[in-house]
Amino acid sequence: MAVESPTAPATPERQPFRPGLEGVPATQSAICDIDGQQGLLTYRGYSVGDLVAQSSFLETAYLLIWGELPTSTELRAFEHEVQMHRRVSFRIRDMMKSFPSGGHPMDALQASAASLGLFYSRRALDNPEYIVGAVVRLLAKIPTMVAAFQLIRKGQDPIQPRDDLAYAANFLYMLTEREPDPLAARIFDTCLILHAEHSLNASTFSARVTASTLTDPYAVVASAVGTLAGPLHGGANEDVLAMLEEIGSLDQVEPWLEQAMAQKQKIMGFGHREYKVKDPRAVILQKLAEDLFDQFGHDPLYDLARKLEEVAAERLGPKGIYPNVDFYSGLVYRKLGIPEDLFTPIFAIARTAGWLAHWKEQLGANRIYRPSQIYTGAAGRDWMPLQAR
Ligand code: CMC
Repeated sequence: MAVESPTAPATPERQPFRPGLEGVPATQSAICDIDGQQGLLTYRGYSVGDLVAQSSFLETAYLLIWGELPTSTELRAFEHEVQMHRRVSFRIRDMMKSFPSGGHPMDALQASAASLGLFYSRRALDNPEYIVGAVVRLLAKIPTMVAAFQLIRKGQDPIQPRDDLAYAANFLYMLTEREPDPLAARIFDTCLILHAEHSLNASTFSARVTASTLTDPYAVVASAVGTLAGPLHGGANEDVLAMLEEIGSLDQVEPWLEQAMAQKQKIMGFGHREYKVKDPRAVILQKLAEDLFDQFGHDPLYDLARKLEEVAAERLGPKGIYPNVDFYSGLVYRKLGIPEDLFTPIFAIARTAGWLAHWKEQLGANRIYRPSQIYTGAAGRDWMPLQAR
């Protein structure tokens, strides 16, 4: 009897290579939508402008993660749960004390976020309680760890969270050891909303890839923190202030830009894969910066930033390159008295909400990420003994 030889499944048709996966849909998602031509951003169908005007960061995080705005009872319960889990184990604080004080806070955050997996390692991804617990713990503890490292590297002991303070105010309190001005706390909360989610950016992609292996959520967030740290992504907010400080004065803005462009240097805080107009978050952050300056005094770096935006509009605008979220955020944080190397960790505090929303969504319809590649290396080489090389 003839035995049919098994036929291999057809090889999927090769797609053309798109560097940086530009324009390649790598997932389906119902979390966030960007209209890059019109400069519109929505979370779960709600405009980010409405959310910053009406919502709080934790309410927005709830919306992103669970898909619907909470009722007042749900919101109170969620806020309470997050508040209950703000403290971090003394073992994690002791571990952080062994970090070099000159190390970057993003590296400290990545290591501390990953360490949570040692403490809460029971991986029960099909158990809704486990999912809720991980969401609450990560939202609650990431700010505490960022603030703890700030005090530890100054040689101080971290201070405990204050239960009577809301999320943003408590973070500023843990960081500065002072109860913040209510306007400062509100503006900081708004910054967190603006940074909470932004579709399939590099760190969120990283989070989804990690999530797709069904590893634990602490590893998911730690991998995303590492990806966010780079200067082409979240790290740009820190570089913007350094750039403005380097420019130094208003009359140097134009020559500086000329020279930077002649050297094909990227202007930090400008450009975005999705937006071809000014990032809507930059519009809101600029207004927040002005509100802060009205209340707490002007920052001359803001004048440089505006001038740079104006001059760059002529040179980069025709290519669709305008200020992104990172351009004005640093000026806001600087006015709030936050050290420059904490700008990206603060971005991470906010984006944890988005990463968790994507983690949950990925688990809901999971297939491990395993893209293909186009091999460009050598083939069929003959082995050469060591002595002959
Ligand atoms: N300054 C000068 N030229 C730029 C800039 C910029 N900031 N951004 C893009 N370009 C030019 C780039 O030189 C290239 O020109 P050409 O076609 O002549 O070679 C063209 O625009 C396309 O640039 P690209 O780097 O291929 O664009 P991309 O979509 O791969 O990168 C980006 C997007 C955000 C990485 C890039 O715009 C950039 O490096 N910006 C500066 C860093 C920054 O501000 N990052 C924060 C991004 S928003 C928040 C976040 O994601 O965390």
